[in-house]
Amino acid sequence: MQRTAGPRTGAARIVERVDELFAIGRAAGANRPGLSAGEDEAFRRARGWMEVAGLEVRPDPAGNLFGRLAGTDPGMAEVWTGSHLDTPPDGGRFDGALGVAVAVEAIEAIARRGRARRTLTAVAFRLEEGSRFGLPCLGSRLLTGAADADQVRRLHDTDGMSLADAARRVGFDPSTMGPDPARLATIGTFVELHIEQGRLLRAVDPAAVVGVASEIVAHGRWRLTITGQGNHAGTTAPADRADPMIPAAAAVLAARRALSGFEGAVATVGRITPVPGGTNVIASAVSLWLDVRHADATVTAAVVDAIVADVRAEAAAEGCTVMVQRESMSDRVTFDPGLGLEISGRLGVPVIPTAAGHDAGVFAAHVPTAMLFVRNPSGVSHAPDEHADAADCVTGVQALADVLETLVGDINPAARHVGAGDE
Ligand code: GLV
Ligand code: MN
Ligand code: MN
Repeated sequence: MQRTAGPRTGAARIVERVDELFAIGRAAGANRPGLSAGEDEAFRRARGWMEVAGLEVRPDPAGNLFGRLAGTDPGMAEVWTGSHLDTPPDGGRFDGALGVAVAVEAIEAIARRGRARRTLTAVAFRLEEGSRFGLPCLGSRLLTGAADADQVRRLHDTDGMSLADAARRVGFDPSTMGPDPARLATIGTFVELHIEQGRLLRAVDPAAVVGVASEIVAHGRWRLTITGQGNHAGTTAPADRADPMIPAAAAVLAARRALSGFEGAVATVGRITPVPGGTNVIASAVSLWLDVRHADATVTAAVVDAIVADVRAEAAAEGCTVMVQRESMSDRVTFDPGLGLEISGRLGVPVIPTAAGHDAGVFAAHVPTAMLFVRNPSGVSHAPDEHADAADCVTGVQALADVLETLVGDINPAARHVGAGDE
């Protein structure tokens, strides 16, 4: 990220904070899997930022973290803003982290001006990516009751560790995880700021720094277990082979064909594990994850069916069997159109859809929800080349603060929040 010279302004602090999180578990990219020590350390840092901002900080039983700036009218529904702190393996610097850092910064800027009528809450969610335990947006799904807590506790990572054990390792009690209807009932509006994951914003308006989301397309993840016959790579005759890597390869190629066969669809095999995985061994089984997205859930399902049909045909020819497990499915989410249009009109920014999942998509089923995107010149995300310029992050803070201000009502300078840290 570009560094800003001079005193630590809000701009410099956003850069510092995003960098601070990136440094945790950094390898080629950011490594803070859900419920890892790295994600937990990121939560400690975010707690510190919230405390510096003078917010009342509290975690919930799912490990999500909230920082409240109490409004003058406790009867009014709260305005929430935030994102997540976990990353996929070797992920980018900004995915999730930017939304949390900017949320705290924007709320602190408002707190310096005075006290609003509605409470403003900065939130950091756990386990959004789903790359460790399969099911995405677990922090927000648990809170809203969109995921069954018993099922969530039983999820396992690839090392065989249950989510419940991973939670215990970072010091919280998984038995208390579950829906929090009382907290959900306090929310009036949710706004998530996120780095753009792609370059649609630029295609729609080359000058736009910020955009507003219209929808999240339907997306899901399927796990295919292909079973064959483990054997010797050198001595097994062609006729005796039942190699599960062959149907697995068919899955990879069918996923690529789906991009042209179904307009607007994307399909990816990003994770594939041969068992036992020896250089001179025909695998006995292959575990493979398929990620499929399209605006329309029926097309998403048709893409999966087409890919699985190809895999089954190849498996039958090879003497292998195939088991397909749907691990997650998120239907298309349309964000509150009135709120989106209002924000886009006032900020003068475009409205764009996204094919990436977000906690905001979970909240959209419960409260008016909006998302702001900050442009990403590389368009790359879930990888180290993900990038937002420092100046664009500041524009993001200003845009979010502007949106929050209009949502919270009049700000009373005489009731300036005590403890809102000035730099
Ligand atoms: C989360 O970032 C996803 O879209 O998979
Ligand atoms: Mn994200
Ligand atoms: Mn992500």
